[in-house]
Amino acid sequence: MTDPAPDAHLFVIIGATGDLTRRKLLPALFHLVEDSRRSIVVLGSATTDQDDAGFRKTARSALEDAGFDEPRVRSWCDERVHYHRLDRNGDYHSLADRIAELERDHGLSGNRIFYLALPPRIFPGAITGLGEAGLALSSGWTRLVIEKPFGRDLDSARTLNEAVHRHFDESQIYRIDHYLGKETVQNLLVFRFTNPIFEANWNRDRIDRIEITVAESLGVGTRAGYYDQAGAVRDMIQSHLAQVMTLVAMESPASLDADAIRTEKIKVLRSVRSVPLDAVRVGQYTAGRTEADAIPDYRSHEGVAADSTTPTYAALRLYVDNWRWQGVPFLLRTGKAMAERLTQVAVVFRPPPVCLFHECPDDCVAHSDVLTLILQPNEGFRLQIEVKDPGESAGVRTIPLHFDYTEEFGEIPDAYETLLRDVMEGDQTLFVHAAEVEESWRLFTPVVEADLDVEHYPAGSWGPGGARELLGDAEWVTGG
Ligand code: BG6
Repeated sequence: MTDPAPDAHLFVIIGATGDLTRRKLLPALFHLVEDSRRSIVVLGSATTDQDDAGFRKTARSALEDAGFDEPRVRSWCDERVHYHRLDRNGDYHSLADRIAELERDHGLSGNRIFYLALPPRIFPGAITGLGEAGLALSSGWTRLVIEKPFGRDLDSARTLNEAVHRHFDESQIYRIDHYLGKETVQNLLVFRFTNPIFEANWNRDRIDRIEITVAESLGVGTRAGYYDQAGAVRDMIQSHLAQVMTLVAMESPASLDADAIRTEKIKVLRSVRSVPLDAVRVGQYTAGRTEADAIPDYRSHEGVAADSTTPTYAALRLYVDNWRWQGVPFLLRTGKAMAERLTQVAVVFRPPPVCLFHECPDDCVAHSDVLTLILQPNEGFRLQIEVKDPGESAGVRTIPLHFDYTEEFGEIPDAYETLLRDVMEGDQTLFVHAAEVEESWRLFTPVVEADLDVEHYPAGSWGPGGARELLGDAEWVTGG
């Protein structure tokens, strides 16, 4: 047998019969195999009673649905995809035996990735099971990928970190936040630190406020059971929006090394002042129509309590207490069943000190330039600036300068593919460090635990009216 390729490894999915495996993991893995000729053997495992053939059938249909060519899919699945039924009592010793057998059969040298595609309540048992079965160490490298949400609050996140660290070193852990895999989210750093024209103005002297919006036009759909226990702050703000905020606010790292970048992100979170509850607004959608569909009342979804007060919308204002950002409000807003699907960061610059070109009353506020980084869809950016209106002696008009990612570069890679490739290469930059997740929970645990008034908003709107109050006299750049 020839020597295995250096990156050849066994990719073990714990919880392989779920939707994530079908929709995201298998297509991303197959694409990586096809594209970069990686040598990956997949071992799906779950408590469902089936054999290799049963799982291969699921894998084949997932890959064909994702548009891959049937003969290539068939031969990869037949040769490289396996299944192991996990004991309901969480005995991972039989999994360890199966892993040893597959590594022998495929000539692998002990490089392993364990991907926990499980409901979060099962994370601790699975991590302990892997550790006690001796699977945290091997003759090669071993990496553990953990899906979000990482904990429900600060205490549970700490307990989970302790459980992980009992068996695994932090250098082996890849906590996923799929937003970090999005090209446009990564572009935030490139945009900031390679274009000094913006970076020079990226501070309290030039910026009035920053608005981060993740609006989804879909309702909770079939995930209501999970969602009703989570809500918008746990599901989105603590993770995705907090991550985007750290990339917008962080200082330039000493290098592109994972530790250097993550250290700067942690510093931002540590500098955020506790969020007072009067700077938070939450809402829940009622029946309505979005750009995508007619959406029923949130409380009528199967799995949602009839008197549920779980927020499907949250908006809050926070401050980063450091030299760069003192006094600049960061407004974070997310909601389901909103008017459109849109993820963006709007950087609103301070207006000029006088309105030279407008005939206005004494209390006039001059126009602000706005830089909008559009993370999805129609990825790109828009810079609103003022130009002279031709013919008018002192007329001024706002025009957008526009850049579209796909027009320039074509298709953008899927976030999961980017993240899985990084796990395979041992690059932790786009993964959340233990300290980051705890700092983020420190900020948002009081918010998820508070008894806040939940305002209703019709599906297809921009959320509850009360969220406007967070901006004082201003209006949201998008959605008023
Ligand atoms: C997930 C949340 O993490 O992100 C979902 O659990 C949400 O509720 C999803 O719909 C949004 O991701 P994206 O990539 O579609 O913006």
